[in-house]
Amino acid sequence: MKIVACNSNRPLAEAVAAKLNLPLTRAAIRRFADMEVFVEIHENVRGEDVFVIQSTCYPANDNLMELLITLDALRRGSARRVTAVVPYFGYARQDRKSGPRTPISAKLVANLITEAGANRVLTMDLHAGQIQGFFDIPVDNLFAAPLFSRDIQERYRGRDIMIVSPDVGGVLRARGVAARLNCDLAIIDKRRERAGVSEVMNVIGDVRGRDCILVDDIVDSGGTLCNGAAALIENGARSASVYVTHGVLSGGAVARIASSPVEMMTITDSIPATEAVRVAENIRQLTIAPLLAEAMRRISDESSVSSLFD
Ligand code: R5P
Repeated sequence: MKIVACNSNRPLAEAVAAKLNLPLTRAAIRRFADMEVFVEIHENVRGEDVFVIQSTCYPANDNLMELLITLDALRRGSARRVTAVVPYFGYARQDRKSGPRTPISAKLVANLITEAGANRVLTMDLHAGQIQGFFDIPVDNLFAAPLFSRDIQERYRGRDIMIVSPDVGGVLRARGVAARLNCDLAIIDKRRERAGVSEVMNVIGDVRGRDCILVDDIVDSGGTLCNGAAALIENGARSASVYVTHGVLSGGAVARIASSPVEMMTITDSIPATEAVRVAENIRQLTIAPLLAEAMRRISDESSVSSLFD
């Protein structure tokens, strides 16, 4: 088993390698003067079971290209099996035609990863589970729900918690956490009655006096979660906290969260923390390194990955 780290999330790759007690494979993944990606694997990989770790987060296109070219280098280096470990799978939100003459970019990215030489994919909290079907190679989709549930149990002990889905599309994910914690679930239903009229947030469930925890897969601009937290407080919630798997946090998201009613936002390290995230007082990170490492060990040993979530 060998682990190759691309550049998007070296701290996570190093933590995974440390958990598995393996060194990272020596490789150079760098840019030519015109910013073309160049990859050179400095160790023999012939016949090896190789895992390439790369989140396709910002800058998404550069990171995707690094992944593709690394996969190609490993295939041409005669690796026996190559697993693309993509903790954050960028382009996942473009999973259907959103209108006439629009692409399904998540499918295109799946084709590219397969064509480049991946034999399997390991990812986490895919925005839409059906993206697994965009690949004709095995995909293991890990869940942050057990990690979140354990953390919530420790951190919110003695508080009257309620799990909240910030939109109707996220109910399944939020219910997974609520079921593990054996607690109530509320749903925020966002509705725009007419074009040009501002969105109304209806909270389904009685959140009065409850410590609400919003659960989502992605925080990007932060709009969904900040508006959700404000709606919960307006509806009488005692507090609003957030658990999100992928902290995309574009533009002014960190500042928006800092000035929102969000008591604490917990994200994972599927995407590395920027300096702004590190110093933010109401954002913290949980690591997925042990979970990823264990899944990789099981893939390598040909043992069950799904039983990790039993
Ligand atoms: C949407 O379906 C996703 O689950 C997230 O709620 C969304 O991507 C968050 O985006 P933003 O933070 O920009 O509101």
